[in-house]
Amino acid sequence: MARKKVTIVGAGMTGGAMAQRLIELDICDVVLQDDPQFAGTMHHGKALDESQAGPWSGYSMRISATDGWEETANSDVVVVTAGAPRKPGMSREELLNGNADIVRAKVSEAAKHSPNAVIIIFSNPMDAMCHVALKASGFPRERVIGQGGMLDSARYRYFVSDAVGVSPQDVHGYVIAGHTDTTMVPVVSQTRIGGVPLTELLPKEKVDEVVARAMRGGAEIGELYKTGSAYFAPSAATIAMVEAVLLDQRRLMPCSVLHQGEYGINDVYSGTVCQLGEGGIQRTFELPLTDDEKQRVVAASEATKELVALIKD
Ligand code: 2OP
Repeated sequence: MARKKVTIVGAGMTGGAMAQRLIELDICDVVLQDDPQFAGTMHHGKALDESQAGPWSGYSMRISATDGWEETANSDVVVVTAGAPRKPGMSREELLNGNADIVRAKVSEAAKHSPNAVIIIFSNPMDAMCHVALKASGFPRERVIGQGGMLDSARYRYFVSDAVGVSPQDVHGYVIAGHTDTTMVPVVSQTRIGGVPLTELLPKEKVDEVVARAMRGGAEIGELYKTGSAYFAPSAATIAMVEAVLLDQRRLMPCSVLHQGEYGINDVYSGTVCQLGEGGIQRTFELPLTDDEKQRVVAASEATKELVALIKD
C-alpha cells in the first residue's frame, strides 16, 4: 500500500506546528516546502529535528524538507500557510495583495506536481486566498478548502466551555461565514451543550461576552504574542481537516467553501458546515439560522466579494 503524503507549504511557526501534529499522528509522510530566501535553512532544520523525535514520539512516517517541488509530487493533501502572518494590530485583510502573489505562485506549483491533491488554505485573508488558489489550481471547489471556521469554532467552543464549565469537546457549535473579526458568525441559536441550547445555560450578557471574545480570538493572541499570530489552535484545526480527508472520516467541519446556492449565496468563498473525507468536501450543510444570523452570513459574503475584487492578477 502506498503511503499517503501531505505537503505543508511554509515552515514558519504555524507550518512547523502543523508538521509536528501531523507526523505525530503517524498516518502519512510529511514534506515541508519553503524558499531559502524566506526561510533560510529553517525548514530543513525543522524536518531533521522532528525526524529525530520519532524514536521517542513513536512514529515511523518520514518528514522531510525541500526548497523545490519534486519531493512534493503526488501529495494527497497540500496545506498552504505561506505568506506574511498578521502582526499585532493588523487585520487579516491588510495582507491581501502581498499574500495573493505568494499563494498564487505556490498553488500553481503545488497543483502542477500534485494534480489530485486536496488543497487546504490557511494563508490570510483566508476566504480571499481561497479564490486565488481555486483559480491558480484549476481544481474543483471540492478540492480547494479554507480552514477559517475550524479555528474560529474552536475558539468559540473553548470560551463557551469555560463559561459553562464543561469540556470543550462537548460544546457543539459552529462559527461560519467570513474569517475576519467582523464577518464571522458564531451561530448561537444552534449551539448545544448536552443537547441543551446555550441560551438556556448562560444569560444573554454572558453569551454576548463569549461571542465578542471569540470574534477577536486571533487578535487577542497576537496582542499576547507581540511578534506574530496564533499557531497552536490554528495547527490543531487544520490538521483535523487533513486527518478527515486522508482517513475519509466524513466529519462535519466548518470550513470555507465556494458557495453554490448555500444560504442563497453564489460564487464566493464563505464558511459553512462541510462533510470532509476522501476527495475533500463531500457535502455541504446549511444550518437553520435566525433572520439576524442569516442576514450577517449574507453580509459577510458581500464583504468577501468586495475584498476579492481588489485582488490584482
Ligand atoms: C488567526 O485567527 C492566524 O487567522 C489566524 O489566528
